[in-house]
Amino acid sequence: MTTQEKSGANLLQDERYKTIDRTIKRLNRREDALLEVLNTAQEVFGYLPQPVLRYVAQQLHVPLSRVYGVATFYHMFTFEPLGEHTCVVCAGTACHVKGSERIIHTLSEAFDVRPGGTTADKTFSLTVTRCLGSCGLAPVVVVDGQVHGKATPESVLAQVTHILSLAEMLKEGAR
Ligand code: FES
Repeated sequence: MTTQEKSGANLLQDERYKTIDRTIKRLNRREDALLEVLNTAQEVFGYLPQPVLRYVAQQLHVPLSRVYGVATFYHMFTFEPLGEHTCVVCAGTACHVKGSERIIHTLSEAFDVRPGGTTADKTFSLTVTRCLGSCGLAPVVVVDGQVHGKATPESVLAQVTHILSLAEMLKEGAR
């Protein structure tokens, strides 16, 4: 078996690739399925590594450049593994008008992380996304999977600080 065949066999055994395949099949390999397939890929991998982007391009029969184009256009996609804790800040129009930019700036400064990035110690990721569909609660943030509406820079900073110090204490306790 050649190296290429071996890596192909590994891909087929990986449940995560099977999940991507199921989404592709469900959408009947439509070209406009790209966005949804990338969403699925990010859900199962947690981010979009390069081999996955290549795989999606191959399976959908679209150029890799197009896959990159879509993946880089939408803020919700990330090319790095996420940290242990995450804060997703909505930067859609309603949230932007209500000050989401200040929340992003505050977190970015406080934890020394760029928007869309992860701290050097991999404990925290700051993600910026488009409309989360809860505009009535703007500005909206999602901290470790919990949705918070009418957020302020102070409230989000306090919450993330609390979560990170708790995590640090648990780590210390385990040592
Ligand atoms: S713009 Fe943020 S939830 Fe819609």
